[in-house]
Amino acid sequence: MSEKTELEILADADYPNADELARRFAVQPHPNPRGEEEYLRIMEKPGFGNYFTDYMAHATWTPEEGWHAKKIEPFGPLRLDPAAAVLHYGQEVFEGLKVYRHEDGSLHSFRPAYNAARLNASCRRLAIPPLPIPDFLGAVAALARVEKRWVADAHGSSLYLRPVVFASESFLGVRSARRYEFVVLASPAGPYFKHGYRPIRVWVEQEYHRAGPGGMGDAKTGGNYAASLLPKQQAHEAGYDEVLFLDALGNSDLDELGGMNVFAVLSDGSVITPRLNGNILPGCTRSSIMEFLRRSGTPVREERIGLQWLIGAIEAGTVREMFACGTAAVVTSVGSLAGRGFSVDLADTQVTRHIYGELTAIQEGRRPDRFGWLYPLG
Ligand SMILES: Cc1ncc(COP(=O)(O)O)c(C=O)c1O
Repeated sequence: MSEKTELEILADADYPNADELARRFAVQPHPNPRGEEEYLRIMEKPGFGNYFTDYMAHATWTPEEGWHAKKIEPFGPLRLDPAAAVLHYGQEVFEGLKVYRHEDGSLHSFRPAYNAARLNASCRRLAIPPLPIPDFLGAVAALARVEKRWVADAHGSSLYLRPVVFASESFLGVRSARRYEFVVLASPAGPYFKHGYRPIRVWVEQEYHRAGPGGMGDAKTGGNYAASLLPKQQAHEAGYDEVLFLDALGNSDLDELGGMNVFAVLSDGSVITPRLNGNILPGCTRSSIMEFLRRSGTPVREERIGLQWLIGAIEAGTVREMFACGTAAVVTSVGSLAGRGFSVDLADTQVTRHIYGELTAIQEGRRPDRFGWLYPLG
């Protein structure tokens, strides 16, 4: 058995139930929630990240009061001073998690305490005061309950939650801010693979990096994503779906994709993934897949994966399958890897499909949750 990370320990700890925690966020009345017609139009084809529900969770931090004014309020623009620190120095962190509706109508989220703990790890790196994990869970539970109608129960559908913490103090001095907002948005999400299951084409980026040693690569903060946008745009224009970033020091080892962790399946049946080197986001899906595979008897190793070794292994047939994973897609096969001077194809998708089937079955309540990953929301 491998040792649990700090995030996994916090994720798997016991927390009060959703009934108790949801009470921390009082629900304010909404003057005009969406009518039935608009609701049905949105839910027919929600896509991903296009529409937001009627409410959001919101709390504020100040040095005097800590996290306070916790509420579920109508979704809408926030008043933000043009001098707000986040607009100038990028002091913000965010998360992404999903709410699922089971056949009996109950709502569940998948390891939400992992996201809460990771939010705090990101907060620490960006000198933002932490948010107590029960507050995070309370916001998730209260918002999901109010927005129950937006959680579709079709296979692959969910309500995506986007918690964000940002510096709202109006001040241009370069220091950690003295006022923050915590907001959770909810966005109905349809099946990720709208055109059916298709392995992705990956561009291996050898010029730009998303993060470097001592930087913020293991924090979920906007700056890392901003750094990935230009290479991603260039890769899209060249016909690729995603960008795989290499380590900034040697430009030789796999780090991760712009928004997903990466794995390779070896011909002896074992599975490898880059170790958490400080530049990689410790994905909740990554952690769950490793635990799932290990419990099913598949050896999983976290290690350096050199690009040159990998290309050789794919050409020699020692690596025939790769996949990328994250909350949005769950897991998706890598069909090809290309970069300056090379292009290799991966034929197999079997392990990926198996993992996809098993994880989504747990999330959607079609299989018993033998890992204790689901947190019932009501
Ligand atoms: C950079 C990056 N890596 C990996 C992941 C996968 O993390 P998770 O499985 O927790 O969604 C994400 C998505 O959150 C990400 O943005």
